[in-house]
Amino acid sequence: MNRRQFLTRSIMVALGTGLTACGGSSIFVDKGVPFKNPLIIPDELQGTDVGGRLQYDINLQKGNTTFIDGLSTPTWGANGSYLGPTIRLQNGANVDINFTNKLGESTTVHGHGMHVPANMDGGAHQVIAANTTWISSYTVNQDACTNWYHPHLMGKTAQHVMNGLAGLIIVDDSNSDALNLPKTYGVDNIPLIVQDRSFNADGSFNYAPSNMQIMQGWKGDTFMVNGVIDPYVDVEAKHVRFRILNGSNSRLYTFAFASGKAFQQIATENAFLESPVELTQLTLSPGERAEIVVDFSSDLAKEEILKDLRSGKELMKVKVVKAAQPSTIPSGLVTLPRLATPKTVTRTFYLGSTGGMGGGMGGGPSGMLTINGKSMNMAVINETIPVNTVELWEVRNNMMMDHNFHIHATHFQLVSRNGGAVPANEQGFKDTVYIPPGESVQFVVQMTDYIDAISPYMYHCHILEHEDAGMMGQFVVV
Ligand code: C2O
Ligand code: CU
Ligand code: CU
Repeated sequence: MNRRQFLTRSIMVALGTGLTACGGSSIFVDKGVPFKNPLIIPDELQGTDVGGRLQYDINLQKGNTTFIDGLSTPTWGANGSYLGPTIRLQNGANVDINFTNKLGESTTVHGHGMHVPANMDGGAHQVIAANTTWISSYTVNQDACTNWYHPHLMGKTAQHVMNGLAGLIIVDDSNSDALNLPKTYGVDNIPLIVQDRSFNADGSFNYAPSNMQIMQGWKGDTFMVNGVIDPYVDVEAKHVRFRILNGSNSRLYTFAFASGKAFQQIATENAFLESPVELTQLTLSPGERAEIVVDFSSDLAKEEILKDLRSGKELMKVKVVKAAQPSTIPSGLVTLPRLATPKTVTRTFYLGSTGGMGGGMGGGPSGMLTINGKSMNMAVINETIPVNTVELWEVRNNMMMDHNFHIHATHFQLVSRNGGAVPANEQGFKDTVYIPPGESVQFVVQMTDYIDAISPYMYHCHILEHEDAGMMGQFVVV
């Protein structure tokens, strides 16, 4: 199919289905031959030992990426044109992650989920000017997990992530090394960065959110995994682990196999679950991660389709192409400490407004998208949090739209979801939590170290258009 045919077909499909994003001239990407593109596995970046410190070199750069045959999309990437390598870290290692900005404009790179000092966090304050290098130096100080990195420049996070800057950070520890889990990266331990995009006819990303799209969260009409549209991945007939990141700006996904096949969730954002939790569907809001294991032992020569139940779209085909030795996974994964729940709520965060449901619609996105009625101000510390104290936080979504809540630096344990029980697959350590319209969550959280009265960390809604519109605040640990 040449480009002209492609465009003609795409435009016909768009007219026929009304699936173009509102407010733009997006072309709808025809599915064509379904799942014809091999899944790309991001390279792994292992550090280079220089005098006992592991050096990781990351160049933030512009490029062009072909997502659609015959079209070239201007993109940003890390050590490549789109997305970036998977940074592999071992708990306890001393690391220097050297970010060199070749983008021609300022950005930052935040380690989402990383438990590091505030001035190494890569948040809004650690600006990397064009043609400079910023070094995030720390001792890895957390359990095995799947984290990620992405820009966090004030007011520009959504655009910079949309351009393509994001990658995974995989932390390993002695427990994850010892557990009998699938560990061969890209073979039975497969990262899945799920994103949505829209395209202009010239191949460029169509991203110019209207005020309405900022309020509702911008959503693209085309889905990609690891930067590939219509991907398939070949696996062996055994247990296969997927590390899933919702790397979209605003879209939530409810992942499921089209066949209804069950799978085991083994980890939340920041740690293993105590034991695998069997699920047939899994919801991730933007920024959330989950590790799942799927047993394909009896599926040789079969195919499974990974779907998003929210949009009804098919995301990826898994082809079980090769026989393998029988495999099992452990029934116990880790013992998690359980923080004692304080009797009363320590802090309350109202997403949207401090008043009742709805709030005022008058102020436009930046007037509405606040936390406790306040917009992010880099000069204001909103919360001062004493180190080592276990606190109970309540976050209330006061609006009739989706929000979530993410805290830098630390990991929390849900205590209740909308006044009720916490689902088994959320009973681990998390750094981002989905709060449906009108609902609330309570969690216990403890800042365990990195006292710094000057450098703040951030908390925010991880719907990136909301974050950029001001739905973010700052805290220091003292
Ligand atoms: Cu992934 Cu402050 O963000
Ligand atoms: Cu973060
Ligand atoms: Cu939000």
